[in-house]
Amino acid sequence: MSKNVRIGIIGAGGIAHVHINTFKELAEEVEIAAITDINVALANEAAKAFQIPKVYDNADLLLDDDQIDAVILCVPNRFHAPLAIEALHSGKHVLLEKPMGINGEAAKDIVRAQKETGKVLMVAHQMRWRWQSLEIRKQVENGDLGKIYHAKTGWIRRKGIPGWGSWFTQKEMSGGGPLIDLGVHMLDLSLYLMGDPKPVSVFGSTYSEFGPKKKGLGNWGRPNWEGFFDVEDFATALIKMDDGSTLSLDVSWALNMEGDDEPYVKLMGSEGGALFKGERLTFFMEKFGRLVDVNAPAPENNHNERVLLSQHFIECIKEGKTPITSALSGLKTNLTIDAIFESSRLGREVPIDWDI
Ligand SMILES: NC(=O)c1ccc[n+]([C@@H]2O[C@H](COP(=O)([O-])OP(=O)(O)OC[C@H]3O[C@@H](n4cnc5c(N)ncnc54)[C@H](O)[C@@H]3O)[C@@H](O)[C@H]2O)c1
Repeated sequence: MSKNVRIGIIGAGGIAHVHINTFKELAEEVEIAAITDINVALANEAAKAFQIPKVYDNADLLLDDDQIDAVILCVPNRFHAPLAIEALHSGKHVLLEKPMGINGEAAKDIVRAQKETGKVLMVAHQMRWRWQSLEIRKQVENGDLGKIYHAKTGWIRRKGIPGWGSWFTQKEMSGGGPLIDLGVHMLDLSLYLMGDPKPVSVFGSTYSEFGPKKKGLGNWGRPNWEGFFDVEDFATALIKMDDGSTLSLDVSWALNMEGDDEPYVKLMGSEGGALFKGERLTFFMEKFGRLVDVNAPAPENNHNERVLLSQHFIECIKEGKTPITSALSGLKTNLTIDAIFESSRLGREVPIDWDI
């Protein structure tokens, strides 16, 4: 491998631009060497805008290029597993957008391919690198919050359906609505902050009240009025862990309720609690016989979460380390999401099937 890690981008839509801009900050170690998109015009536009030297007509050609060390997969969820597996078997390290798989089966296939090839497979859950997440995880590891026995998490958009009719709102392409789009971030983050318990069963319910009426539309993504909407727009669940703790989740793209679009996690521990919402981080505890709330300020040297995520990916490649957002962590969230959909369909609690 040359001094620089040479990266190829597959998919040149919204999130690809975010990754390319982020990796500019790591230009001393990383080179964005090639890009492709099934819409080649989009790949050409991005290559011109960001001075990317090579444009390929399709992903196979990019993956055949032995000058590329790693790829970032920025494609609709349906293509995550097939492209990740092909990339791993082509000898590339993979930074894969969330959700890892479109469902648990796809996630299991990715886990197997990662084990067979030994390449780095990292899921892009940038919220783990927010300063509040780093601070809470440190307190949990120190034991300062005691045993975390319950957590609440969510992300409520009042009017935020992305790209109505596009791949986002078609179950076969996306795997679901806000549960797999926003909920996957919140599940990943909460489980991490709780100290990585293993989810064992779920009671969940999903609803679709706005999308079918073309209401509740937001700004992300490109709408396709020829398309359709067959996913949920609200999901709620209670998840039980192997250590007896529980996690409650609420996520919406559209809702008749205050919707501040601010992801949140509330941890309830035997010795203290933590609330992370938007820019806020508050710890709750009892000291000297009194209830004490501590509002933690952002650190002065606050780094961008996406830069930290990208740095971690490069470090894992260079040092042969397993990323903290590994294939197994992606499997955990995919299996939990599958179980929420299944519980909603059956109207009862369902166990999570961990057989690989
Ligand atoms: N981490 C985050 O916070 C975050 C935010 C937004 C989106 N995402 C994820 O990023 C992924 C892409 O989302 P987006 O908003 O950029 O979507 P998008 O529709 O803007 O872009 C996807 C691009 O992939 C291209 N594409 C489709 N199939 C392809 C294939 N087989 N080979 C090459 N290109 C192909 C499409 O032409 C399109 O340009 C999704 O998985 C989404 O969940 C993550």
